[in-house]
Amino acid sequence: MVEGAQSAAERPRARGSPSSERFRHPPGEYRTDSRVRPGGRRQGAGEGRTGGASDTLLASAPMRVVDLDRDMRDVIPTGTSRDSEFLFDRMTDCTLGAASAGGARRILDVASGFGQDARALAGEGAFVVAAEPSARMSALARMQEVESDTARTEHVRAWGDALPFADGSFDAVFCKGALDHFDTPLAAIGEMARVTRSDGRVVLAIANFDSLSCRVARGVDAVRQDWLGRPPPRGRRHYDVPHDHFTRYELGLMREQASAHLTVEAVRGLSLAWGLPAWSRAVSRLPQFAARATLETFDRVARVLPALADVVVLWGRPRRAATTSA
Ligand SMILES: C[S@@+](CC[C@H](N)C(=O)[O-])C[C@H]1O[C@@H](n2cnc3c(N)ncnc32)[C@H](O)[C@@H]1O
Repeated sequence: MVEGAQSAAERPRARGSPSSERFRHPPGEYRTDSRVRPGGRRQGAGEGRTGGASDTLLASAPMRVVDLDRDMRDVIPTGTSRDSEFLFDRMTDCTLGAASAGGARRILDVASGFGQDARALAGEGAFVVAAEPSARMSALARMQEVESDTARTEHVRAWGDALPFADGSFDAVFCKGALDHFDTPLAAIGEMARVTRSDGRVVLAIANFDSLSCRVARGVDAVRQDWLGRPPPRGRRHYDVPHDHFTRYELGLMREQASAHLTVEAVRGLSLAWGLPAWSRAVSRLPQFAARATLETFDRVARVLPALADVVVLWGRPRRAATTSA
């Protein structure tokens, strides 16, 4: 995408507009993609400061705030309770199942993190490329491959919105639990569509911050504070957008962004009520088989009501006309 050519769906919305709370960062603080050059190539961190007149020119340009060496061990949740384990397993199974459906052989994992999903698909015989901008995350992923002696994947250091691959290189591309970390998610979806072959599949999996559990918890906290005069809850609530997210996703926004570059073929809602402490406690006290049956029943409800689900997985075919850059 050409510099400055963000579409309406990606542009940060003004504070106070009906959709503004979808975005964590109001326009003044919003980290824009000002450093992507036409053609999609990005300047490296620290590049571009030439001094003198160009400094003056650059002074008003918003800078992209990134830490290329970050690792996300502290933000990637791991299964610590039955309902968490269930949710993360469902998210993985559904995403990888959709990506490998129809015998996809060449698969790209965008924002591959520790590479566990790429390794799993490589273990099933696919050729998998793990694209990840953080050198530290990729190093940890490589270490895991060596230590566990599992199938190897190709590691490529890359941003989601400037994928270094030719058009139509992959049968399937997926991006799991990461799009809300991107500063230019719409451009990244466009790139995913571009590098997928025209009858291939792009799979996006994302947490829903308008899930039933977020709505209930927000409502309960509001009643406690506004009507009962209780102090605000301490610490981050599961409905609060984490500090390292750029976008607050819910089903409508997910569909809107995906539809700009994909013909959406399926939307799956996964799991219901995750994040409510009382629900988590109740599930943990049930006998194993009853807990499983309960979580699966709620999961089936989420499937027909994706707007209320904890996680949404969406997939579709690339829409070529919409992905051609100027
Ligand atoms: C929460 S992790 C998810 C990792 C993995 N997909 C998983 O499911 O475990 C988010 C990942 O997004 C990566 N990331 C952040 N901004 C990105 C961007 N603009 N382009 C590509 N990856 C990005 C981070 O480095 C991190 O590895």
